[in-house]
Amino acid sequence: MKLLDGLVLGIESSCDETSVAILDGFNVRANIVASQIAMHQQWGGVVPEAAARAHVQSMIPCIASALQAAGASIADVRGIAVTNRPGLVGALSVGVTAAKALSVAQGVPLVGVHHLEGHLMSAHFAATRPEFPHVALIVSGGHTEIVLVRAPGDYEIFGETIDDAAGEAFDKCARLLGIPYPGGRGLQELAATGNSRAFDLPRSLPKDPFNFSFSGLKTAALRLIEREGPGINRHDAAASIQAAIVDVLVKKVMHALREIGDVWGLTLVGGVAANSELRSRLADKCQQSGFGFATPPMEFCTDNAAMIALAGSWRLAQGQADDSSLDVFPNAELPSSTHQNQS
Ligand code: KG4
Ligand code: ZN
Repeated sequence: MKLLDGLVLGIESSCDETSVAILDGFNVRANIVASQIAMHQQWGGVVPEAAARAHVQSMIPCIASALQAAGASIADVRGIAVTNRPGLVGALSVGVTAAKALSVAQGVPLVGVHHLEGHLMSAHFAATRPEFPHVALIVSGGHTEIVLVRAPGDYEIFGETIDDAAGEAFDKCARLLGIPYPGGRGLQELAATGNSRAFDLPRSLPKDPFNFSFSGLKTAALRLIEREGPGINRHDAAASIQAAIVDVLVKKVMHALREIGDVWGLTLVGGVAANSELRSRLADKCQQSGFGFATPPMEFCTDNAAMIALAGSWRLAQGQADDSSLDVFPNAELPSSTHQNQS
């Protein structure tokens, strides 16, 4: 995978983290993340307008901190990458506007990056880089996808969730247990000292072998918590919920690996990839089945600009760039090589 020579500045602001990174090849020189989680906790979820305003406040300080942490000046930057889709329109606009201004002022190329391509690329920050082709499991707050990655930019989606994303399932169940938003990490911490067999929760396996469904689990967890009342053992409940989510993800993705076949192995990316139970279960299964396995360090699982800079660096090295008319899109399909050839 050829990358741009020199430093690439990446910007991510699609949801509730303002992040700016400086990348030199695969080497992350700086990855600054200003999280808005504490602010959104008061409302129990992300409020789009508040998110956009917090990005306005944090963007320039994050750019300055990233350059300082990298020991670089803006004049050293050779390319700018920014998430322009999908995400909250107001939030995305802050990052894209900052990126355009920097690109014009410095006379360096700009490229808009699909947020999920960023997550897919984050697997290359793993200690052992994945080879192509591989299968990727993207598990985040907004997405749950099984993707065949033939090469950078050449993606085929095999399966996805038909209702809630895996991260959403963690967050909604966590909320029922009184864990503050976003909840996935807090639920994992509670689960660490719980018995995952204490409560029987459903493992929903939709007919399509590659698709997921998590909304039934949330309903079952609600019923369980109502039935047990305030005396419920929260550790056991958290462990049982986590096991239900992880079991389904592991079962489906291992089936997909065998069905798709002839691949190097699996990459696990997205915020839920930070879940240690999921990481270790998939690592073991892949090892037993002779598949490679790569997942990035935790800091590159949840939203970060380093992964956006990496995707952008690859696209810029291919000679792709956007001009200052670059727009933002709340919904957008993952780009595929077929799409590029047609455009
Ligand atoms: O990728 P991400 O940062 O943002 C989106 O693109 O959505 O993913 C955020 C999601 C949240 O649902 C959060 O609860 C979940 O990742 N998450 C976790 C863990 N850390 C973050 N879920 C389970 N276990 C964790 N340790
Ligand atoms: Zn994300």
